[in-house]
Amino acid sequence: MIEYKDGVFGLHGEEISCLLRVNAYGLLELLHFGEKVRTEDAEAFTLRQGIGWGEAVLLQEGNTESCPDAMALAWSGAGRGDYRESPLELGGIPTDFRYESHEILTGVVPMESTLPQAQGEAETLRVTMTQAGLTLELYFTLFDDVLSRRAVLKNVGETPVTVTKMMSSLMDLYGEYEMSTFDGGWIAEVRKHTLPVSESRIVNESTTGFSSHRHNPGFLLSEPEATEDSGRVYGFNIIYSGDHYAAAQRSLQGLTRVVQGISPANFCKVLNSGETLETPEAVMAFSTDGFHGMSRKMHKFINIHVIPAYWQGRERPVLFNSWEGCMFDFNHNRLLRLAKDAKDLGCELFVLDDGWFGERNDDTAGLGDYTVNRKKLPHGLEGLAKKVRAMGMQFGLWFEPEAVNINSELYRKHPDWALTDEFAPLLSRHELLLDLRKEEVRDYIVWNVGKLLDEAGITYVKWDMNRHSTALGTKAHDYILGLYDVLGRIFHPRPHVLLESCSSGGNRFDLGMLCYGPQIWCSDNTDPIERQVIQENLSYLYPQSTFGAHVSAAPHAQTLRNTPLCTRGNVSFFGCLGYELDLGQLLKLEKEEIRGQVAFYKQYRRVFQFGEFRRLKNGWQVSNGETALAAVFRGLLHAAPGYEVLRLKGLDREKCYHFSTFARKLRIGQFGSLVKHVAPVNLNPNGLILRAADRHITMPDGAQECRAGGAALMAGIRLLPLFRGTGYDENQRTLTDFGSELFIIEEDKSCENN
Ligand code: DGJ
Repeated sequence: MIEYKDGVFGLHGEEISCLLRVNAYGLLELLHFGEKVRTEDAEAFTLRQGIGWGEAVLLQEGNTESCPDAMALAWSGAGRGDYRESPLELGGIPTDFRYESHEILTGVVPMESTLPQAQGEAETLRVTMTQAGLTLELYFTLFDDVLSRRAVLKNVGETPVTVTKMMSSLMDLYGEYEMSTFDGGWIAEVRKHTLPVSESRIVNESTTGFSSHRHNPGFLLSEPEATEDSGRVYGFNIIYSGDHYAAAQRSLQGLTRVVQGISPANFCKVLNSGETLETPEAVMAFSTDGFHGMSRKMHKFINIHVIPAYWQGRERPVLFNSWEGCMFDFNHNRLLRLAKDAKDLGCELFVLDDGWFGERNDDTAGLGDYTVNRKKLPHGLEGLAKKVRAMGMQFGLWFEPEAVNINSELYRKHPDWALTDEFAPLLSRHELLLDLRKEEVRDYIVWNVGKLLDEAGITYVKWDMNRHSTALGTKAHDYILGLYDVLGRIFHPRPHVLLESCSSGGNRFDLGMLCYGPQIWCSDNTDPIERQVIQENLSYLYPQSTFGAHVSAAPHAQTLRNTPLCTRGNVSFFGCLGYELDLGQLLKLEKEEIRGQVAFYKQYRRVFQFGEFRRLKNGWQVSNGETALAAVFRGLLHAAPGYEVLRLKGLDREKCYHFSTFARKLRIGQFGSLVKHVAPVNLNPNGLILRAADRHITMPDGAQECRAGGAALMAGIRLLPLFRGTGYDENQRTLTDFGSELFIIEEDKSCENN
């Protein structure tokens, strides 16, 4: 609900409020953003400057309350007495926008450009501010418990102006905070770093042309004492896939200024008379229930207001992807053999990754071309897709439409379509980007991708993009606007096509891409130990329904770490499950285990994909009203481990639950030379007999089952003892390094009645 009372704008969600007021000088003050309060409480949030601060530059001579540098604002100027970070820079011209009017509107106000924005039930406050020749519209849109902000600048005068920086949002928050950012690189995405916010500015920015794995656009501000389940935590993000910028800095007065927007690095946009510049939408969530409380709100917002309407709450298929198993080396028959195996394991979607077009036998050639490689696929994509569908699976395809190899038909024909500048082009992964600012380039992509989707009945697209841009500032921004145009034209008319975006893994994991497709490939790093970090850190700001999470081979391609299949499954369950390995190389017992994983996942898919996600001490939990699923992950084991307790969260204290283990099997090889002590003959662990036995014989691992009240399960269920080097027993848990367990907690109505 948004209201205007006694000069105060009150924006009230279910559990949050934002109070704004136009002060005596026409500046927009931020009285409060955080806990739910009443609009009438504005007075309590009014900061008083009293007899003033030293060095104050005053808006009104003699009035010590008029220092803009000491005000808590929701927008500010440059060169007009506020020396904190300014949200708008016009190449040396001061900015000093003052309130002109406001409107409270139902719903979302559509953007004029191709920038995507959150959709659905909402209310919007538009505050219009002006300075000579310019109009600035500030939009505050409230979606349940998430506030979004954006700004639109219009040149209503005669003289052109040059915009060198324009933020979407500025918020002066009262209090002491720590800022957490999520940084990394290829196969090392989303590493969490936390710094205290002080008088030195902390910047979270990308300048690669894309949102980037270097610095995910999402970040957190939390009070130092905040924990997973308590304390004040803000989550920030931006609906944008290009160069982003956010900064937090504390003033002497104790106000933390947070700005978010497009990166100003090399940004330079001339606005001629009558022209408009609009910023992407910055989004922010707040909770007093710690990091979990904030994540819960952000997850809900993304699942309801960001991802395309068609995919909201719609379960995602279990997929098989050809990349890690085949790379470029496949043909029609090999793919069909894989598809048959994938179907047999329970997969619902077969995805052909890179290598199906042009002369694409490695990554040096073919990008930009759409002719199917008939040497590999003599029956074309239609022929392959038809066979896959006949097996009862959907067919999906990989594309990298934004890039071109110099060794391609497209580049030979249209070298001018590449995104270049006056210097020699710089290649990355042997490719250049196409200039998506050009209409003919966009038309070429839209036509070719659309045609293939329709002709081959493709229902899933993996949209890859494998390099950083060399375009700077405004050019990079215009490229992104072109990308959004392309994505909209391809996917809006085909809402049923599941788009999973990808950029060398998680190099473009952002809310902009999520507006077109509901899931993103988190990382090429599918080592489950690494994925625990990647997926957990992503979970602060993105729901698990957006995570492409695949089981791959062990030892893992990037870490050479050997991990149990069960851990690879347990980690991938908390996302959109897929398999990406050479199924032909699996042992029968591994296939059986995978068959069990897929069946189990399908049974609980809705909870895994859309349940409430919680970060536990050494694992994760998802739950809906009736079912919870909890995974416990381990690193290195220690000898003689003590008793273990699992503390679940968020259950109904009064309800009764059935607690059980997702059964695991132990391979005989796991026991090495110990087997000879229990076998009647002396068996060598490296000998033929034991090697063969290891391929066929499994033993059950300790599975636990009990009934207990929600209160007891949250107090901590005592788990079965762990292997202690004293022998095997079905009632103990025998885990290895990097092992994991999964527990199922289901409401048990029969027990409640007793
Ligand atoms: C990078 C992606 O992240 C991989 O999953 C795979 O699709 C390759 N590109 C294909 O070239």
